[in-house]
Amino acid sequence: MFNRDFAAFFRQFREQYHTTGAIAPSSRFLANAQARPLARLKARLDRPVRVLEVGPGTGVVTRRIVRLLDPGDTFDLVEINQAFADHLQQLFVDDSDFSPLAESSSVHAVPLQEFTSDAPYDVIISGLPMNNFSSELVEELFDAYFRLLDPEGTLSYFEYMYMRQMRKVVSGRDDRARVNRIAEIMKRHCRERRTKTNWIFVNLPPAWVQHLSGTAKTESS
Ligand SMILES: C[S@@+](CC[C@H](N)C(=O)[O-])C[C@H]1O[C@@H](n2cnc3c(N)ncnc32)[C@H](O)[C@@H]1O
Repeated sequence: MFNRDFAAFFRQFREQYHTTGAIAPSSRFLANAQARPLARLKARLDRPVRVLEVGPGTGVVTRRIVRLLDPGDTFDLVEINQAFADHLQQLFVDDSDFSPLAESSSVHAVPLQEFTSDAPYDVIISGLPMNNFSSELVEELFDAYFRLLDPEGTLSYFEYMYMRQMRKVVSGRDDRARVNRIAEIMKRHCRERRTKTNWIFVNLPPAWVQHLSGTAKTESS
């Protein structure tokens, strides 16, 4: 399974570097950290939950998510890459971890910025490679997260440790300016909404998981 996922992922990394943004899927440790708020919510709530996964890729984090969900929960997956979306759709047909959730899950092969939903999500888990995008797109994607997330909900996303700092050292002036603007946007959202950061060293490369609240902190809090 690992080798098949890795090979599929690496092929997309070569062909669609800009949107794939990683050479390997998340490790088990990184997947578990991204799904931790969902695990806590499932232990606490006795109503069905609504979960959105953004950029599921080959489904490493998705597998952790479906193992936590019950058939009555709603699970939407938004994946821009049609090859990944087809692979995920197939998992809901023939993989025993995924198939119990087939009825209440939908794979949407669209970019997040174009995705709409009738109801907000309790949890959003995202693997988007923000450092590869323009700052305008990063703004748009954060707007989409908070348009889709319930005010009481949690957004969990990962970013590779010190990646922006490293890119600034190796890139030219225009790219440095772009990376600086992205850093500002992400810092602002973390300042206003972050509840926790996990440091995950067992991953290629090591990563931080940021957990943000659906409601921004007020000035006084
Ligand atoms: C770094 S990979 C993460 C894959 C997986 N979540 C993991 O942790 O192994 C980023 C994923 O985001 C997808 N993606 C990139 N831009 C997107 C967008 N605007 N909307 C939805 N998915 C997007 C890519 O196709 C890819 O599957």
